[in-house]
Amino acid sequence: MRPRLVACVAALAIAAATCNSQPAMRPPVPASGGELSPAPGGSVRSFDLTAAPAKVELKPGLVVSAWAYNGVVPGPVLRVFDGDLVRVTLRNHLSVGTTIHWHGLAVPNGQDGVAGVTQDPVPPGASATYSFVARGAGTFWYHSHQRGSYQLDRGLYGVLIVEPRGKAVGVDHVVVYDEWPIGLEMPSPPPASDPAMSAYVTVSVNGRSGDAIAPIRFASGQTVRLRLLNAGYLVHFVRVEDTAVTVVAFDGHEVRGGRPTTDVLPLGPGERIDVELAANGQATWLALQDPFPPSGDALLAVAPEGAPVPAFTPSGIRPVLDIFTYGAQASASPWPKGGGVPTRTFTLTLSEISRTRAALPSPMPGMEMGDVSYQINGAAFPDTPVLEVSLGDLVTIKFVNAGRQDHPMHLHGHAFQVLERDGMAVKGLLVKDTIVVRPGSSITVGFLADNPGWWMIHCHQLHHAAGGMMLLLRYQGSLRLAQLGGPYQSTPD
Ligand code: C2O
Ligand code: CU
Repeated sequence: MRPRLVACVAALAIAAATCNSQPAMRPPVPASGGELSPAPGGSVRSFDLTAAPAKVELKPGLVVSAWAYNGVVPGPVLRVFDGDLVRVTLRNHLSVGTTIHWHGLAVPNGQDGVAGVTQDPVPPGASATYSFVARGAGTFWYHSHQRGSYQLDRGLYGVLIVEPRGKAVGVDHVVVYDEWPIGLEMPSPPPASDPAMSAYVTVSVNGRSGDAIAPIRFASGQTVRLRLLNAGYLVHFVRVEDTAVTVVAFDGHEVRGGRPTTDVLPLGPGERIDVELAANGQATWLALQDPFPPSGDALLAVAPEGAPVPAFTPSGIRPVLDIFTYGAQASASPWPKGGGVPTRTFTLTLSEISRTRAALPSPMPGMEMGDVSYQINGAAFPDTPVLEVSLGDLVTIKFVNAGRQDHPMHLHGHAFQVLERDGMAVKGLLVKDTIVVRPGSSITVGFLADNPGWWMIHCHQLHHAAGGMMLLLRYQGSLRLAQLGGPYQSTPD
C-alpha cells in the first residue's frame, strides 16, 4: 500500500486529484508549441470562441440544432493583420471533446488542432488557448478537427482573415457555403418527398438559406471584395449573374493580373476564392450552378445601399473557370521559381471501394453514405502509408483519382504549388492548400518541407476522410504529439 499512498499524496499536491481505487485518467495532450510574440510591427490579437449547442434558424420553419462558436454559424470572422500574434481561447461547452484547426495557415505543428495527431480534444467544460503568428495575408478558416465530419456538419467553422499590413482595409464580405443534413431539425419536418433530398435538405449562405439570406450592400463607387469559402462537402459552382469579376486570390494566395471573367467559379470543399466586383452601381446575384437541387436556396443578392433588390433572373448555364490557366501570378510560392528538382516524390491513388454488394442509393452525387471505404493506395486510414520527408526536401505529391467522385485533397502545415494536371505542366503559378482532383484526373503538387511535424493530408469531403481517405506526412526526427483513440477518443475525422 505504501507506494500507492505516496503516489496519491503526490497527485494531491499537484492537481488536487481525488484518490480512489480507479486509476486517474491522464490529462489530455494539450495544444503545444504556441508562439509568444508577434512578428516585428505586429500586435497581439485575442479572441474567445465558445463552442456550444445553438438553435440556428436557417430559414423560416427550418430551425436546426447546431453546434456553434459564440452562438453563430459561421462563427465570428477573426480579422488580424499579417504578422499579428493570434491568441484564441477555446471554451468547450459541448458534451463532447473538440479542437480548432487553422485551415491554410502554416502554424507550428502543436497548434494545428488535429485530434489524435497533434493534441487530444479539449474535454467538455475545459478550455484551451491557441497562439500563433499569422504569416501572409489571405482568406483562411477555422474548424473543429475532432470528429470533423460530424462537428463541421453541425456548424463548427468560421472565417479567419489576415489583412496585409500597412494597406487600408478594403470593403469585403465573406460568403460561406454549406449543406445541411436532416436529423438536425427542430420539430417542423423537412419538405417531403423527393428522395434526392433525403440526406441534405438545404444549402446555406452565411448560415442562412432561401429568403433568409441577407443581401450584401455596398456604397456606389466601392470596389467590393467577396471572400468565398466552401465549408461543405460538395463542389459548388458559383455564378455571378451578368457581372464580370476578377479573381484576386485562390486559397488566400494572391493572384495578380487576372482578367475579368464571367465564368462560373468552381469552389471545392475547403477552398476559398476571393473576387472583386467592379463597382458599376449595379445590383447582382450570386447563384449556384449546381446539379444539387436545393442550390436555389443559395441565392445571394449584392446591391447598392438603399436600392431595391431586383428580382432574380438566372442568366443561363455558363462555362466553368479553368483555375489552372487563369493567368494566376501568386505573390510567393513554396516551390523554386523556374522549377525545382524534387528530392521526394510520392504518388497517391484515390479510390472508393463499396464494402457491401448492393451499395445504398446515393442521396446526391458525392454524398454516398453507405458502407464505402475511401482509400489511398489501397488502404484506409489509419492503415494508409506515412509519407516521410526531411527538413529542406522538395516534395512532390501526385494525386491520381481512380474513383468516381471528386476528392478535394488538403495538405496541412504548408501551401503547395500546383505543378501538373493530367501529366501536363501547369503554366501559371497556382498556389493553394486544397485542390479538387476530379474522377479520372491526376494532379501533382510541390512544396518545400519547411515546417517540421506530423501533418495530415486528407480529402475535405469529410465523409470521405471519415471513410478512410486520410494519411500523415511525417518529418524525420519529429515526435508525434498525440495518438488516436485513448481516454479522450481522439479521432481527427
Ligand atoms: Cu480544413 Cu484537415 O482541414
Ligand atoms: Cu473525397
